[in-house]
Amino acid sequence: MGKGFFISKTVAAICVVAAIGAAATIIALSVVYDQEKSKNLDAPVTTAEPGTTTQPTTPSTPKQPWQLYRLPDSLSPVSYNVTLRPQLKPNNDGLYIFSGHSTVVFTCVKETDLILIHSNKLNFTMFEGHHAVLRGVDGASAPSLKTSWLEVPTQYLVIQLSSPLQAGSTYELFTEFVGELADDLGGFYRSEYEDDGVKKVVATTQMQPTDARKAFPCFDEPAMKAVFHVTLIHPHETVALSNSMNYVYQYHSLIIGDATRGTSFEPTEIMSTYLLAFIVCDFGYVHSDPGAEILIRVWARRKAIEEGQGAYALEKTGPILSFFEKYYNISYPLQKSDQIALPDFSAGAMENWGLITYRETALLYNPTVSSNGDKERVATIISHELAHMWFGNLVTTRWWNDLWLNEGFATYVSYLGANYAEPNWNMKELIVLNEIFDVLAVDALTSSHPLSSKEEDIMKPEDINALFDTITYNKGAAVLRMLSSFITEDVFSKGLHTYLEEFKYKNTVYQDLWKHLQMAVDETGIWLPHSVEAIMNRWILQMGFPVVTIDTKTGNVIQKHFLLDSDSGVNRPSDFNYEWFVPITWIKNGAAEDQFWLLDKEATNSNMTLGADDWLVANIDMNGFYRVNYDSENWERLLAKLGTQHKDIPMINRAQIIDDAFNLARAKMIDTTLALRTTEFLKEEVEYIPWQTAIRNLDYFYLMFDRSEVYGPMQAYINNQVEPLFKYFETLTDHWTKIPDNHTDQYNQVIAISWACKTGVPGCKELTTTWFKEWMQNPDNNRISANLRSTVYCNAIAEGGVVEWDFAWSMYKNATIASEANKLLRALSCTKEPWLLNRYLEYCLDPEMIRKQDASATIVYIASNPVGQSLAWDFIRAKWDLIFNDYSGGFSFGRLIDGVTRRFSSEFEYKQLLQFKEDNTDQLGSAAASLEQALERTKTNMDWVVLNKQPVLDWFTSQIPPKDY
Ligand SMILES: *[C@@H]1O[C@H](CO)[C@@H](O)[C@H](O)[C@H]1NC(C)=O
Ligand SMILES: *[C@@H]1O[C@H](CO)[C@@H](O)[C@H](O)[C@H]1NC(C)=O
Ligand SMILES: *[C@@H]1O[C@H](CO)[C@@H](O)[C@H](O)[C@H]1NC(C)=O
Ligand SMILES: *[C@@H]1O[C@H](CO)[C@@H](O)[C@H](O)[C@H]1NC(C)=O
Ligand SMILES: [Zn+2]
Repeated sequence: MGKGFFISKTVAAICVVAAIGAAATIIALSVVYDQEKSKNLDAPVTTAEPGTTTQPTTPSTPKQPWQLYRLPDSLSPVSYNVTLRPQLKPNNDGLYIFSGHSTVVFTCVKETDLILIHSNKLNFTMFEGHHAVLRGVDGASAPSLKTSWLEVPTQYLVIQLSSPLQAGSTYELFTEFVGELADDLGGFYRSEYEDDGVKKVVATTQMQPTDARKAFPCFDEPAMKAVFHVTLIHPHETVALSNSMNYVYQYHSLIIGDATRGTSFEPTEIMSTYLLAFIVCDFGYVHSDPGAEILIRVWARRKAIEEGQGAYALEKTGPILSFFEKYYNISYPLQKSDQIALPDFSAGAMENWGLITYRETALLYNPTVSSNGDKERVATIISHELAHMWFGNLVTTRWWNDLWLNEGFATYVSYLGANYAEPNWNMKELIVLNEIFDVLAVDALTSSHPLSSKEEDIMKPEDINALFDTITYNKGAAVLRMLSSFITEDVFSKGLHTYLEEFKYKNTVYQDLWKHLQMAVDETGIWLPHSVEAIMNRWILQMGFPVVTIDTKTGNVIQKHFLLDSDSGVNRPSDFNYEWFVPITWIKNGAAEDQFWLLDKEATNSNMTLGADDWLVANIDMNGFYRVNYDSENWERLLAKLGTQHKDIPMINRAQIIDDAFNLARAKMIDTTLALRTTEFLKEEVEYIPWQTAIRNLDYFYLMFDRSEVYGPMQAYINNQVEPLFKYFETLTDHWTKIPDNHTDQYNQVIAISWACKTGVPGCKELTTTWFKEWMQNPDNNRISANLRSTVYCNAIAEGGVVEWDFAWSMYKNATIASEANKLLRALSCTKEPWLLNRYLEYCLDPEMIRKQDASATIVYIASNPVGQSLAWDFIRAKWDLIFNDYSGGFSFGRLIDGVTRRFSSEFEYKQLLQFKEDNTDQLGSAAASLEQALERTKTNMDWVVLNKQPVLDWFTSQIPPKDY
């Protein structure tokens, strides 16, 4: 799936800052947390929901099979015939429901008198007192049913038989059921939108990871692959979509009447339940040429399609598919590729095989209102989801513990696919900024975790949901990119090919991929110091990563587990003692030298001993997942080089030097002032990636200091640094009349304006306020360039009052384009008026005002405003019950806690957090881990401020040109 909370660049930056707030391991707390976790796992089975019959159970061990979260290995599904009929209008009780029936054909692998099949929140028709009808297939005779019930905690339909099923025999199980078509974004659910003032309802699905069982009874584990025959019964004026191609037949039913039809679909390929999708809607679509080999369709609200918003996705899907066909050297496994943009969707996108679902902002693009960032997002998310059509869908990992392989891989190669579709965008460099710097910050916390989990540690749906995190996506991508770089991209894709060929339509564990990459390595004669598996084990089985310290006086190279809080111990043992096999690439005086493998804690490379005029920088293009520190002489030389000829250092490495320095300073390995000095050269820098890296790191200084006396001198310094960039873009754009050609220049122009306005560079505020006023005078004709809208809106709303706010709100409510709506949603949080912010918070929990999918992001936006911070915190504390119970189904509780607590740096706030944890132990769900992180971070922030305030104040003050003060 695409990232759970894939939001704008700016917010992504906020999340990084949140993560950077580091970690003091409070051992006592971690222990409590572990106990809670195990307590929940072992919790005795409790009472059922009303209306279900539950077998009384005793909490004594050993457990009954239906009390375990994993299916037994006695039965194996072959195929399903599923018919579903969603009601797009509420019934007499005001409830939206769907009804359906399903026949699953399964083989008995081991003799058993028990059938366990997943089912959640479904009500069943009873047949002679039982929930299902069992028949034998091919002459097998079916035993009679003894008893059946719904086991609510583990989400099973349990059927006990009077005599056993025979190994080797095949049976079919028929069920008939109804479920609620709720607006909860999980399973079979409904999404609503307005079309010319008319309310419309879409029935759609999100099965991953464990919600197929909410649509129909099924063996809902990824290794339980089967063929699915799907039929949807739906109103005449709607279209029905599913994973495979449809054929329409007239549905004759006396009861249903004539306004209904049925659509059946070709049987699917052999596939996992979590990749199923069923949709009923009245959307429009655009499609590829009739002659094309693969039918490609892009679906969306009719209005969006009429406005041409599907065109960009359609244009890029074909090239990206053919890129992956070449990259994997396997043709696209299906006949068609449907992609659909849904008004309500919890993740960014979901790779259902043949019918990919997206948030509107992840698929639709409108050149006049969407920014280049919106466009990049569409290209990379499409690329991510299409990559899964092979890696993930054709070949699927056996269990969720290997989610990192699936998601990390798709995240990495999404940049390759997007780079193919948009070769001038620097996508292969942007991965460092967008994915890798982020996760280096998270993985440096003691609360981090290894990429790979044990199968037995991931059982319950909430354990699985908690895996959809930054480590899984970003670190997964980073270590696979590193691997691809040291064995070369060619060899990497060779190994992928044989892996996919061997395991197509089957399931794997990650070791299967290592085996195939090793084969490719051996075949091509690439030299490695150890096997692929041995090298990679150190990166995936232990958390964290090393900092490599190079002493250029002696050539001595040392590695050490990098922790932001260097005083904290790690209480998670590692088989590898937190040592890694580190591929060290490096540049000496501008030229790349031979790669050097650091295989022990320490080594010496005489080539790294430098003469007086030499300099070196290691980890070229940040291909390795590690940080680098140097002796102070080399630091000084690097700073000197940056100050004179910064272009001698590759662009990614200029960004790396900044990011490493700030993080080393956080870890107390170098002085904070040395880190600040790495930003001095920005006066001369016009490239986006170094600028953005610096801004993200400096954001933390703003969070900690913007209510203290450091604020003035800090503003003056940034003002001085950013002014040349502002002037550069003023010239490049011919006084703001043109859009820069270069994709990354377009981003950097936004930085120039945002920071010039924020620090008061003359001419900036006038510019943004004027543009916004022009729009207010002429609301139907917004002439603000799409790229600049976010920053212009935000600055104008911050400068303005209720008139500007209400105008922006009405524009938000009228927006027909999701990305435009998103920009306004964010900009509305920029006001400095507390009452407006409070009113806005109330809107967040009113689905008539703000969609549920946007609620948590909006609260985080509000919290990112210094004025809104405490308002948002009070708000979520007061409303947590409501938020937790009404807004389940998404993955964003963790982000909510993260976003709202990131400024915390006082004892008082720390105590409030503890209190919050105590008050809500039973209802934290996937936010529990984020809360632990927030506690650690708050402690660390407190210490950091005490230690750094004075030196930082002195340094900024020393940098201010006298004329300004
Ligand atoms: C499932 O549907 C297919 C296609 O309509 C049909 O051929 C098959 O017999 C059905 N199987 C069962 C078990 O009903
Ligand atoms: C399922 O049954 C329960 C209890 O009778 C009822 O409250 C609920 O509304 C039913 N669900 C549907 C979708 O009919
Ligand atoms: C513009 O784009 C190219 C890649 O197409 C890149 O190499 C260059 O550095 C970019 N930036 C500037 C400021 O020209
Ligand atoms: C040092 O560089 C030389 C010349 O490039 C190379 O042959 C030698 O292997 C290098 N030494 C180490 C320890 O990498
Ligand atoms: Zn994915």
